[in-house]
Amino acid sequence: MSVIRSTVLGCGSYLPAKCLTNSDLAAMVDTSDEWIVQRTGIKERHIAAEGEMTSDLALAAAKAALAHSGVDAQDIDTIILATATPDNTFPATAVTVQARLGIHHGAAFDVHAVCSGFVYALATADAYLKAGMSKRCLVIGAETFSRILDWTDRTTCVLFGDGAGAVVVEARNGGGTTADQGILTSHLRSDGRHKDKLFVDGGPSSTQTVGHLRMEGREVFKHAVGMITDVIEDAFASADITADDLTWFIPHQANKRIIDASAKKLKIAPEKVITTVQAHGNTSAASIPLALDTAVKDGRVKPNDLVLLEAMGGGFTWGSVLLRWSGPNAGTVIS
Ligand code: UT7
Repeated sequence: MSVIRSTVLGCGSYLPAKCLTNSDLAAMVDTSDEWIVQRTGIKERHIAAEGEMTSDLALAAAKAALAHSGVDAQDIDTIILATATPDNTFPATAVTVQARLGIHHGAAFDVHAVCSGFVYALATADAYLKAGMSKRCLVIGAETFSRILDWTDRTTCVLFGDGAGAVVVEARNGGGTTADQGILTSHLRSDGRHKDKLFVDGGPSSTQTVGHLRMEGREVFKHAVGMITDVIEDAFASADITADDLTWFIPHQANKRIIDASAKKLKIAPEKVITTVQAHGNTSAASIPLALDTAVKDGRVKPNDLVLLEAMGGGFTWGSVLLRWSGPNAGTVIS
């Protein structure tokens, strides 16, 4: 049976030049390299320069993804940008990226699901492509969390960083089996009862300020592994696969302990897990495409590899996307 498959043609990413190490942080708050590495696995994170905005990071990642995919910006008809740190309250940061890419057609909008943003955006792109509303989507995760951190709060400021990642997704014909290249299943979840465990204490309608990130870290940690495994078991069941069938597991990069515990519970072999949190900290919606881009560009992820993406974050929101990697030379384009 012929079906539309959202095929991922390529990826790109961008990290701001300024690198903040754990030792740099130890000079700012009461913390240590040893504590941060032991509790989180993070060694350094990148911080946007003064005046460098989420749209700048997103644009750099988008250009890299277009170049890697061999797709001209004019052939993109939809831009979906996942961010919790937009340039402005409105318009959507996606329209700034659209304008700077010289695209004057189609649609561009932001998706806000915090750390699950990229998975939400990719699942949305998949739905648009399958519904025939789009042929070629640029999906971006971009954040400048450094702007919403309380730099005097050691329990949060050591965890996050800035960055961006992007993919180009195109509608192609597939045979309707898990052998197809492209997105095979997506599962999204949220539960607003947990909204006060990870939030920003400001906003246009509440305080008319931007606010700072607040988190009950232990509470988030407690729920993370259960939520992650729940949504991955759903992905396994709907694709009728097991952990052994996966080539790569690319989780949200928040904490190495959460990543390791989730993989262990799901019986995913450690050598299949892509971990980049040490190099950029938790970059929220940007973390999965940053990890994906690293593993594609260093040659680990190859065409036809079965790749599982997963995220969990503020809301709580969580989700998974199971895809078979294509790369730039995918199958039949839908005309
Ligand atoms: O993307 C989704 C969003 N977020 C997450 O996934 C984060 C989820 N949570 C976590 O990753 C972990 O809970 C943290 C890394 C935030 C904290 O690790 P933990 O093992 O849960 O530590 P804890 O909060 O239980 O704190 C242990 C101790 C405390 O001291 P006492 O009360 O035992 O004396 C903290 O005050 O560590 C102390 N502490 C620190 N010490 C040095 C907290 N932050 C720091 C710090 N440096 N930066």
